[in-house]
Amino acid sequence: MAVPRCLILLAPSANHVYAGQSPKLSSAELTLICPGIGTVAPTQLAGVDYLAADLDSLDGPQLAAISRASATMAYYLVEGDLLRPVALPRTDLVDDDLVTIPKYQGKTNEQFTRLLLNVTLAGLEAGPARRRDDGQRLAILDPMCGRGTTLSTCWLEGHDAFGIDDDAKALEAMAAHLSTWLRRKRLKHTTRVSKLRREGRTLGKRFDAELRLPGAEPLTMAALPGDTRDSAQLWGRKTFDAIVTDAPYGVVHGAHTGSGAHRSPAGLLAEAVPVWASQLRRGGALGMSWNTHGLSREDLESILAEAGLTPLTGPQWSHFSHRVDSSIQRDLVVAVRPVD
Ligand SMILES: C[S@@+](CC[C@H](N)C(=O)[O-])C[C@H]1O[C@@H](n2cnc3c(N)ncnc32)[C@H](O)[C@@H]1O
Repeated sequence: MAVPRCLILLAPSANHVYAGQSPKLSSAELTLICPGIGTVAPTQLAGVDYLAADLDSLDGPQLAAISRASATMAYYLVEGDLLRPVALPRTDLVDDDLVTIPKYQGKTNEQFTRLLLNVTLAGLEAGPARRRDDGQRLAILDPMCGRGTTLSTCWLEGHDAFGIDDDAKALEAMAAHLSTWLRRKRLKHTTRVSKLRREGRTLGKRFDAELRLPGAEPLTMAALPGDTRDSAQLWGRKTFDAIVTDAPYGVVHGAHTGSGAHRSPAGLLAEAVPVWASQLRRGGALGMSWNTHGLSREDLESILAEAGLTPLTGPQWSHFSHRVDSSIQRDLVVAVRPVD
C-alpha cells in the first residue's frame, strides 16, 4: 500500500503475547467483517501500531464494523502529515467492563473472544442463507461456556446468549458476577437461579438473566449445567443462529468425556460436533478456537464435515493461528450448516 488513507489505532491488550500478534489478527478480522474495506495491513507510526487501509469514504455499516472489531481504539483519516480523528458509531449495547472485570485462570482472552464471535458471524454472511442486517438480534450458543466470556461478549454486541458447561462452579461464578454488575450499573433486569429438571430428575442449577434497555427488545442470557454432548437434550427444540466456543486446550481445562479429562479435544469434539450441528439453524455458522498441538486443522475439518457442516476455507479464513504460550498454539475454524 502506498500512503494509507485511513488508520485504525489498536487498543492495548493486557496480555503482551497477544498484543504482539494483535495487528496481524485484527487485519484478518477486519478483512472478513468489513466488506469492501480492501487491503488492511499492520503499520507503525512513531512507534505506535495501527492498521492501514486505503479507503477514505466508508459507509455507515463499514464504520460500524470497524467500531465492533476486537482491537479498534480509534479511527483517523490521513491528511498529509496529519491524522484527523473520526468518531466511530457506538455499537456496543453495554459497557465492556462486563467482559473485562472477571479475571481467572482459564479465561479466554477477551479480545480474542470478540474476534472469534465477529469472524463466526462473518461466516453467517459468507454462508448461502442470508445477509445479516446490521443490528439483527441473533441467538448464539457457547456449548463450553466456562465463566461466560463469550456470553457476555454476545450481550455487548446485542445478541441473546446461551451456554452450557459441566463445571457448576464456573456457572455459579458467572451468575454472581453478572448479577452484581447489573445491579451496580443500575440497569433494569431480572436474574434467576433455578433447578434444571429433566424427566423428573434435578440435574443442577440453571442461570437465566434478562436485560431491559430503553427502546430495545430485552436481551436474554441462559446457562445450563451439563455435558455438552447432551446439549440437544438439555435445550430441547431450541436452535441457534451461531455457535461460538473455545475448546479446552488440555492445559488448564481438559476435554471431559466419560473416561476423564483429555489433553486432546478430538474425542470430545467427535461426539459433540454432530450434536451442536443439529442445533444450528440452516445457514447458521459454528466458530471454534482450539489448540493445534492437540488436534490438527485437517482432523478438525473432517469432524466438522462428517457432521454435515461446510468448513470455510481460502486465504481469508487462514490467518488466525497464533501463539498463546509454549504449550498452546491457538487457531480458529468457521463452518456453516448448508441451507438444504
Ligand atoms: C477453554 S475453556 C472455556 C473458557 C471460557 N471461554 C471462559 O472464558 O470462561 C473450556 C471449557 O470446556 C468445559 N468442558 C470440557 N469438557 C466439557 C464437557 N464434556 N461438557 C461441558 N463442558 C466441558 C470446561 O469446563 C471449560 O470451562
